[in-house]
Amino acid sequence: MTGNGFPENCVVVGATGGIGAAFVRQLVARNGVKSVWCLSRTGRSPVQGSKIRSAGLDITSPDSVLAAAQVVEASAPVDLVIVATGLLHDDKLEPEKSLRDLDAEKLARSYLVNAIGPALIAKAFLPLLSRERKSVFAVLSARVGSISDNRIGGWYGYRAAKAGLNQLLRTASIEHARRWPESIVVGLHPGTVDSGLSRPFQRNVADGKLFTPDFAARSMLDVLDGLDAGSTGRVFAYDGLEVPA
Ligand SMILES: NC(=O)c1ccc[n+]([C@@H]2O[C@H](COP(=O)([O-])OP(=O)(O)OC[C@H]3O[C@@H](n4cnc5c(N)ncnc54)[C@H](OP(=O)(O)O)[C@@H]3O)[C@@H](O)[C@H]2O)c1
Repeated sequence: MTGNGFPENCVVVGATGGIGAAFVRQLVARNGVKSVWCLSRTGRSPVQGSKIRSAGLDITSPDSVLAAAQVVEASAPVDLVIVATGLLHDDKLEPEKSLRDLDAEKLARSYLVNAIGPALIAKAFLPLLSRERKSVFAVLSARVGSISDNRIGGWYGYRAAKAGLNQLLRTASIEHARRWPESIVVGLHPGTVDSGLSRPFQRNVADGKLFTPDFAARSMLDVLDGLDAGSTGRVFAYDGLEVPA
């Protein structure tokens, strides 16, 4: 990211995840960056250094999100917020292959983590963004959240939650632009990235298409660097191409 001093003060939510940690590493390495807030459930940061600040945050708890925003507010305005949290599978959840696999509680949990959590972050953190210059609020979405691009089905809960996330971001972008005309609120598709989230599903990935977290984070930062206020409300992939709704 270069030029115009963007970004100086950054926040990475989900800083202990595969892609979140790579964002922290990439941002810290940039000359213009002065501080990087690392927010995560454990409150740990993936790297140490004079630019790093850290605090705990559970995106599914409104109180926790509010408390973290109050901590970060002391160093506002913020130029860049990246939300790199997300859930595809864990010991109680796996992506559905068929309608037969649908389970109300699991669908709700996916929506809570993948859509409601980032929306709560938007509610608490958008007011902390710089108003006088370029500011970006970016959330990791996924290409599978695109309804028009859905050709192979499956993964009901994750797909629907990411589609819901994209709509929440679009709606927030419209409201936010009224008072922050230079602001950019976007979703990002990182490509298929080697992390805990993708690990069980990497078998069919074509050669050269499984990215390292650092490649994905660097590519997405380059994409954010090229965006302007006209890009707000949209979803962009790591290569800069727009992901259709
Ligand atoms: N990897 C891919 O191929 C791929 C492809 C498309 C989209 N994405 C998206 O990219 C984003 C990052 O994924 P990743 O690959 O980096 O996965 P990851 O390594 O599993 O990281 C996910 C992160 O989300 C955090 N998280 C989950 N629930 C949380 C909660 N309630 N409160 C706070 N943090 C919570 C986890 O925190 P802990 O560290 O505390 O567990 C972890 O840091 C996700 O939105 C994912 O959907 C990834």
